[in-house]
Amino acid sequence: MANLLPGGIRARLVLKTCGHHQNFGQLYFQMEYSDIAAGMTSRITVDQERNFYDSAYAAHLHTPDHALIINRHSLQKELSDPGGLFYERRLLYGAVLRQLLSEQLAGRAILDYGCGLGEWGVWMATEGAAVALVDLSPVAIEIGLRRAAASGVANRVRGFAVDAANLNCFQDAEFDLIYASAALHHTLKYSNALAELLRVLRPGGKLILAETYGNNTALNWLRRLNWRLRKQANEAGEEIILSVRELDLLRRHFGSYRSHP
Ligand SMILES: C[S@@+](CC[C@H](N)C(=O)[O-])C[C@H]1O[C@@H](n2cnc3c(N)ncnc32)[C@H](O)[C@@H]1O
Repeated sequence: MANLLPGGIRARLVLKTCGHHQNFGQLYFQMEYSDIAAGMTSRITVDQERNFYDSAYAAHLHTPDHALIINRHSLQKELSDPGGLFYERRLLYGAVLRQLLSEQLAGRAILDYGCGLGEWGVWMATEGAAVALVDLSPVAIEIGLRRAAASGVANRVRGFAVDAANLNCFQDAEFDLIYASAALHHTLKYSNALAELLRVLRPGGKLILAETYGNNTALNWLRRLNWRLRKQANEAGEEIILSVRELDLLRRHFGSYRSHP
């Protein structure tokens, strides 16, 4: 961990399974979850979080189909537009794009985990992957599937409005790659979510995360203050800032691990 993001704000993390993760018992995971939950400042229910994201995404239901189209060109254009995303986000997502382009996407089974509006998952389908979009919010999945149809890849994209703590819509080891953008820190607080994520990733598969990395206590304090001052709803589910503790928990289940500031 020594070379990990000294003052880091966001990190791109790549974890490769060691191939034996499915042998860990449920009790093990449950204990870890209570550990994380104990450090949380507030608790929200899955229904509260679903309602929050349904309302947050509802405005996008009116987006016309042509504006939902995504492909490599549109993604690269958006990420290089200085008038678009914040600089920090452009850096992060530019790095994510390079990482994902370095993977073999065509023909792979990929899960876009906590997909939100489905941009990344649908883009990967346009590169030839068979993609499953998963999100707690049915509104998010509706928009993601419309995006897939508008982008011409409806036949390669499935959508599931489910809680990541119960992925029984998928078989064991169904996915070659799981990508989670700003999502794992939401789901980790739900009992069984990590066990389910590990169950559906095939031995030797890869988990790629784009997350805020909370290794700096002062920055974390400022983030929390900012959320309070801006009266951010608890339902936004930002209690966990992914830090060494959560990464250590994850790393135990993976054979190799890389992080990039
Ligand atoms: C910050 S958003 C990130 C969305 C998208 N990945 C992105 O990068 O724009 C977090 C997402 O996690 C989803 N989420 C939160 N808890 C979840 C759960 N238990 N199961 C599945 N998705 C969940 C939310 O609905 C929301 O879409």
